[in-house]
Amino acid sequence: MEYLKITEELSFSRIIQGFWRLVQWEWSAKELEAFMQECVERGVTTFDTAEVYGFGECETQLGRVFARNPALRNKIQLVSKTGIFNHEGFKYYDTSYDRVKTSCKESLQRLSCDCLDLYLIHREDPCFDPKETGRALLELKKEGLVKEIGVSNFDPIKFQALNQFCENQLCTNQIEWNPCCYEHIHSGMIDLLTQKQLHPMIWSPLAGGKLFTSQEPPYVRVREKLSEIAQRHDVEAEVIAYAWLLYHPVKAMPIVGSSKLSRLESAINALDVKLERWEWYEIYTASAGTRLR
Ligand SMILES: NC(=O)c1ccc[n+]([C@@H]2O[C@H](COP(=O)([O-])OP(=O)(O)OC[C@H]3O[C@@H](n4cnc5c(N)ncnc54)[C@H](OP(=O)(O)O)[C@@H]3O)[C@@H](O)[C@H]2O)c1
Repeated sequence: MEYLKITEELSFSRIIQGFWRLVQWEWSAKELEAFMQECVERGVTTFDTAEVYGFGECETQLGRVFARNPALRNKIQLVSKTGIFNHEGFKYYDTSYDRVKTSCKESLQRLSCDCLDLYLIHREDPCFDPKETGRALLELKKEGLVKEIGVSNFDPIKFQALNQFCENQLCTNQIEWNPCCYEHIHSGMIDLLTQKQLHPMIWSPLAGGKLFTSQEPPYVRVREKLSEIAQRHDVEAEVIAYAWLLYHPVKAMPIVGSSKLSRLESAINALDVKLERWEWYEIYTASAGTRLR
């Protein structure tokens, strides 16, 4: 496994395991503990969750494992997020000072932990006051409740606005990126992170599985290209999808969302694949079915 320095104090495994879908897996605490241990044995030590996953249930299930096995907590880097809420089934965002501070304490309680390694603002909040959100994040750091702070799904303008009020301490942006999703390439976010030498965490690296299941033309075209390149490299197509993300100089950290260790291993195996530059562009252009000018 490769590890990346996120800040002077914190390193993440290049491949991260995500737990968004954990509640659907219907695992006992024992099964979850065994899965987490298998991740750690493979060098995947960074785990991603959020307060909104299962409306707190995901953090609660992870917390049960940390309560059973506190030593496991010390072997991993734990990431959680705040900002997405529900009012009687209606979704809204809240990144206000009070909410961020309260949410962090609630997450720690559910997770049976004293401290998060990284705390993220989950989504851009149209009703966002970067001064207030920044004040809350810096205080959480000062109080020792979180080691590092960052954001998720932010565009360059909101990232820079919050960073200004966080003494430039934002250390990552967790963003969606896969060969069918270019939002953050087009917004310049990836360029900004590359310039700042910050490494993004990548969600839905396989488009939530759609890279391998969807019949929509962009996914079908990408799938065919991935398979063709995979044959050349003598690996599974999934491995190539991860290798494509890992190729970029921003040094992205894909978050695997699968419940299956064999699929986690595909991501790990991608660390050994060296794509040719033209192969990267074959995948880059496949979803739109276009040729570069
Ligand atoms: N910050 C955010 O806004 C945000 C949003 C979404 C997610 N996330 C984070 O990112 C993590 C990863 O996201 P994700 O779960 O969407 O990632 P993903 O790895 O793109 O998708 C995982 C899903 O794809 C399925 N899958 C994987 N390979 C497949 C294949 N070859 N054929 C068919 N199905 C396949 C998996 O099923 P199996 O379990 O059966 O393998 C699983 O349901 C989440 O766990 C969460 O931590 C963050």
